[in-house]
Amino acid sequence: MTKPTATKPPLPNSRRTFLKRAGAATLVAVVGGSVYRAADRGVFSVGRGDAYEPWKTWREEQTTGTMALVQSAILAANPHNSQPWLFRVSEAQLDLFADPARNIGSIDPFLREMYTGLGCALENVVLSARALGYRPRVQLLPDPENSAHVARIELTPGDARPSELYHAIPNRHTNRAAYDTERPVWPETLAAISALNDNPDVGVLWFTSAGERQKVGELIVAATEALNADAEQLHDSDAWLRLGWDQLQAHRDGITVDAQGASSLSRAFLKVLPNVALSDSEQGAKVFLQKTRDVHVATAAGFGLLIVRDVADNAQRLSGGRFWQRLHLWATTQGLAVQPLNQMAERADRERQLGLEPIFGRALAQLTGDSGWKALMPFRIGYPMVRALASPRRAVQEVLT
Ligand SMILES: Cc1cc2nc3c(=O)[nH]c(=O)nc-3n(C[C@H](O)[C@H](O)[C@H](O)COP(=O)(O)O)c2cc1C
Repeated sequence: MTKPTATKPPLPNSRRTFLKRAGAATLVAVVGGSVYRAADRGVFSVGRGDAYEPWKTWREEQTTGTMALVQSAILAANPHNSQPWLFRVSEAQLDLFADPARNIGSIDPFLREMYTGLGCALENVVLSARALGYRPRVQLLPDPENSAHVARIELTPGDARPSELYHAIPNRHTNRAAYDTERPVWPETLAAISALNDNPDVGVLWFTSAGERQKVGELIVAATEALNADAEQLHDSDAWLRLGWDQLQAHRDGITVDAQGASSLSRAFLKVLPNVALSDSEQGAKVFLQKTRDVHVATAAGFGLLIVRDVADNAQRLSGGRFWQRLHLWATTQGLAVQPLNQMAERADRERQLGLEPIFGRALAQLTGDSGWKALMPFRIGYPMVRALASPRRAVQEVLT
């Protein structure tokens, strides 16, 4: 594993204060009557409140034993921040379950993303088990009668081996901001990422030349347009938007304004706008398309595609998710940013669900070639220009069964 490079240092206090004041002044000037809402709506409370506690308590390590593994698991990446997991812990065992009530509907009709996200949580469990002095033995899908019983991890005492990836768990956040277009991600770095995978049923393809980026980028934009034209997919996606501060603190899940990678000023504006303006699907769809095209696609240093042998196989989806979490944690240690861009895969699943012409199904098959591999999850990679912010998380107590 290559040596980590330093990540961007935090903004100096004076600059942070300036940004806050500039934000506040503009709010007074432009939003006028709405400014009273700024404090209520979390403009000045980024990363604060109960919804963000799990990121902090992780570090304080008041919890020991198997409960500490759950504290790590809930910080994992997961689709739409739906946190579709439940845990049962005893002294020497942790069982991970899917929570089907938290699936994201027509966005993920075959639960591809749900199982991938559960794999991410599993990876955090394994990393923290090793760090905290356990030897974890993982059994995927231990109950053939119950596909919601995702994994059983048996824990026997071993040497405590905290890894670089373990330490990165609370620093990993999905970065949806513009990436540095002047800074390529070199083939050696991509090769190091590919080498993080140790499962023969899982792999990653890279698309980094100008031609490849253009082709994949156009497909992602076209898939975003198709998704925007599907009222049910838009509706199911919107259900996870948490625009109001109270709503965010109550639910402690979903997609928030702060996680969009906008500047502090834009975030402040978004937060003081009435919820209704932003959750209006037509307006939201326009913003989604514009951000996808002009920010996510336009500034990607490269695209990646996670692949598996059989995308309908839950065990392979879980293993793909474990690789994604490892990849994202390693990227974090290297000062790299990543963001899944699932629109193509979401449309391919939707085409299958509704019996539509497989436009994106075919496009993904073309990207994987005739090697027999299947697409699990497209994403982008690059060097960040701004730090990504944390997303809310439900408390450990809420996800125990
Ligand atoms: C299976 C899966 C699919 C995801 N799809 C997308 C996506 O299409 N677009 C996106 O911006 N983020 C996507 N994400 C990132 C999640 O939204 C993110 O992990 C979640 O909101 C929690 O935020 P965090 O990763 O910053 O902790 C995906 C993550 C996973 C694991």
